[in-house]
Amino acid sequence: MKAFVAGATGETGRRIVQELIARNIPVRALVRDTETAKAILPPEAELVVGDVLKPESLTAALGDSTVLLCATGAKPSLDPTGPYKVDFEGTKNLVDAAKAKGIEHFIIVSSLCTSQLFHPLNLFWLILVWKKQAEEYIQKSGLTYTIVRPGGLKNEDNTDPIVMQGADTLFDGSIPRQKVAQVCVESLFEPAARNKIVEIVAKPEATSKSFGELFANVA
Ligand SMILES: NC(=O)c1ccc[n+]([C@@H]2O[C@H](COP(=O)([O-])OP(=O)(O)OC[C@H]3O[C@@H](n4cnc5c(N)ncnc54)[C@H](OP(=O)(O)O)[C@@H]3O)[C@@H](O)[C@H]2O)c1
Repeated sequence: MKAFVAGATGETGRRIVQELIARNIPVRALVRDTETAKAILPPEAELVVGDVLKPESLTAALGDSTVLLCATGAKPSLDPTGPYKVDFEGTKNLVDAAKAKGIEHFIIVSSLCTSQLFHPLNLFWLILVWKKQAEEYIQKSGLTYTIVRPGGLKNEDNTDPIVMQGADTLFDGSIPRQKVAQVCVESLFEPAARNKIVEIVAKPEATSKSFGELFANVA
């Protein structure tokens, strides 16, 4: 297995890279700026330069990767096309490149509430709408996928157990980015994670379960 990570320099992406390397899985990290990336990512990660908005850069960047994990996302800005471009077009470009390369499993960090049009997050240039469009493109692509929809992301890890449920059943809550990264990497090894949308938050009162149980409980 060789893992391609898009959004590798991001707050969640870098934790995905760390989790993969901790499991001795070789990583090709898609980065836009090598110098910045070197300061963020562990030396074991192979840095490949590319941009999800430049489809021609992606085929070479994917190289001999066999699985793909995507944690890209538009940064809040005044550009109304940001989420459309990064969260939809960029993901679509990744899916097309993944299909052409025969990628075995496509895992993406999406978000809770992507099915809700009248959600305050859509004030950020319809970001949830574009994430939902991207999810549907992945689902129709024929690729094996896991769509991971986290609640609000936190940089500090904690010991709260993970709650995992099916699509459109969780509407609030938060989760440390480290746990999101773990769920993404576990998806590669859990047959029950295949072709599913999983919504995740972490709650102190939840019962701790194995990843196998968590994924198996989602229809
Ligand atoms: N914030 C929340 O509470 C929350 C909640 C639920 C879901 N989410 C979603 O979770 C995901 C991860 O969030 P995060 O806060 O960890 O992300 P982040 O730190 O904002 O990182 C975003 C990553 O996307 C990359 N990126 C942006 N445009 C790109 C392009 N054109 N080509 C290649 N890479 C590009 C950035 O690269 P550079 O480093 O080069 O800029 C960066 O690595 C996002 O999709 C976000 O929308 C967030």
